[in-house]
Amino acid sequence: MADDATYVIRSGVGALERLELIARLCAPATLAFLTRTGALGGPRFLDVGCGIGDVAVRAAAAGATDAVGVDVNAEVVAGAAARAARLGSTARYVTGTFADLGAGDLTGFDVVYARCVLSHLPEPGPAVAAMLRAVRPGGLVLVEDVEVAAVWSAPVEPALVRHVELYVAAARAIGARPDVGPDLAGALRAAGAEAVEVDVVQPVLRDPADLRIHARTMEAIADPVLAHGLATTAEIDDLVARLDAWADEPGVVATLPRFVQVAGRRPA
Ligand SMILES: C[S@@+](CC[C@H](N)C(=O)[O-])C[C@H]1O[C@@H](n2cnc3c(N)ncnc32)[C@H](O)[C@@H]1O
Repeated sequence: MADDATYVIRSGVGALERLELIARLCAPATLAFLTRTGALGGPRFLDVGCGIGDVAVRAAAAGATDAVGVDVNAEVVAGAAARAARLGSTARYVTGTFADLGAGDLTGFDVVYARCVLSHLPEPGPAVAAMLRAVRPGGLVLVEDVEVAAVWSAPVEPALVRHVELYVAAARAIGARPDVGPDLAGALRAAGAEAVEVDVVQPVLRDPADLRIHARTMEAIADPVLAHGLATTAEIDDLVARLDAWADEPGVVATLPRFVQVAGRRPA
């Protein structure tokens, strides 16, 4: 998964700015999810596919004495560690994948969490089963992930409609699941989780700086869009320019994808 040829969104250090924006836009709904489920304050918290590592930093700030982020991409892990150090956080980061969960010190966590990761995998089942292996008996597994096609704007913006269409097509073309959200609860139950709870949130964007997430994401998916012949470079450049200009139009309202938030417990 570290190889951009198999990953719909360009990863690595060049993507950190975009991940920083996403972390800020997702933070309110994520914090509400973590608070509602009682996930904050336990001693050991693991964030799988942590990206810039923002959620582990927040878990550490809320009292976790061992807040850990794991990510398949070593460059991303180095960036997360540097960011946490800059923020004075005790969160720590390791390079690894779902296959590493449940072994070494990646086991016995009070909470194992993943956001916007399962939508990049062919299916959520094995990943969720691995998360259950990394949590202690009675501990919490939390996943939140997207249904990308649910993005909307008012008024309707054709460039956004086309961008979403290209995202969904490119993700499916590389075997990812841009529509995984509604399948998460079933995956958790099938993996043996108990007390599974589901909620749905959809962050709203109004500020130009926030609305630009769609232009930045269009840039970030250019490689798989081109590789699968879904659009030309000229169309991608035109869409990015139109999405940037649209973000500055007065009165525009748009959303991020719909997020499905699912919590379950490993049987005690
Ligand atoms: C879209 S980013 C989400 C980052 C972070 N969870 C967030 O919500 O801000 C997906 C992250 O998952 C990581 N990733 C993808 N496949 C993975 C795997 N199999 N195991 C661990 N990390 C993975 C990527 O390197 C990337 O940093």
